[in-house]
Amino acid sequence: MKLDPAEFGRLREALLSTDVAAFARHMSDLQFHRPGGAGEAQALAEGLGLARPGTRELTETGWFVADACREYVFWLERDRRLPFADHLPGLVAEAIDGRSVLEIGSGSGINLMSMAMSGRAAEVVGLEPVEAYRQMGAILAEAEGLGPILAEPGAAEQLPFEDARFDTVLCVSAHQYFDVAPALAQIARVLRPGGQMVVIGGTLGSFSRLCSGWLLGQNGLSGAKSYVVTVANTLGYMTLGRRILVRPSKWTTAYPVYPSRGSMRRLIAAAGLVPAAETPSVGTETCFRARKPGG
Ligand SMILES: C[S@@+](CC[C@H](N)C(=O)[O-])C[C@H]1O[C@@H](n2cnc3c(N)ncnc32)[C@H](O)[C@@H]1O
Repeated sequence: MKLDPAEFGRLREALLSTDVAAFARHMSDLQFHRPGGAGEAQALAEGLGLARPGTRELTETGWFVADACREYVFWLERDRRLPFADHLPGLVAEAIDGRSVLEIGSGSGINLMSMAMSGRAAEVVGLEPVEAYRQMGAILAEAEGLGPILAEPGAAEQLPFEDARFDTVLCVSAHQYFDVAPALAQIARVLRPGGQMVVIGGTLGSFSRLCSGWLLGQNGLSGAKSYVVTVANTLGYMTLGRRILVRPSKWTTAYPVYPSRGSMRRLIAAAGLVPAAETPSVGTETCFRARKPGG
């Protein structure tokens, strides 16, 4: 999904001349079907073709813009900081300070913006396959008063970077969409010897707790399909090394998988990286760290 140049120009101009945080909150409300009034943000969403006139229904482009807005709202709520800044402050010093950092699956660029704002990294590069997210990232960075932040197109399974290019490779809430084994091999390739990988995301354990909460919430069968598909794919990935149910979709690059902590550690080691002994929690997610030997 991408915005054509005219759509992008209109969206950029509109967002740079409005209260972008209020607009982002409204778009998130629309995505989560939360009630709300028909204010300036709704008029803007309708005028830009992001919401169907007279409704709170998002268009296809609107859905992608809303997705980026949702990430931006989370980021504002955590005071524009990296998601692990409070949980693992030592990690910021060790993995970011003075480092050349690649974030894979950088979405709308909120973590890239945190790093660019802090000025602590030597270099910050994003990689994101969905152009609409990269486009929103460019607008949000401008709205935040930042200069352009490099976010390359591409996928984790085939990184468009030379060998040993980065000190740190970071993935936040993204590895579940990757074909994890080849992505880890690519991460190992682009890390310099002694460089480190930081993958923060859900695991089978946290996903199972989410499922149980959902079932206990007596939500009936609607929506059950996506849980069943995710569990089947996760178990398939852990045992056979591949998703069982695969479907290209305009909404996502892949059905998610959440390998267990043990499976992730095995996959990391198989990619030639040395996993850290600890896998600390970052909220409901788990932080997997590993080093490339040498250096
Ligand atoms: C939940 S978002 C997380 C975005 C960002 N890291 C954050 O913390 O807000 C996951 C991102 O991974 C991207 N993604 C999906 N498949 C990918 C792949 N094969 N390679 C790289 N990124 C991918 C998605 O397009 C999406 O932007």
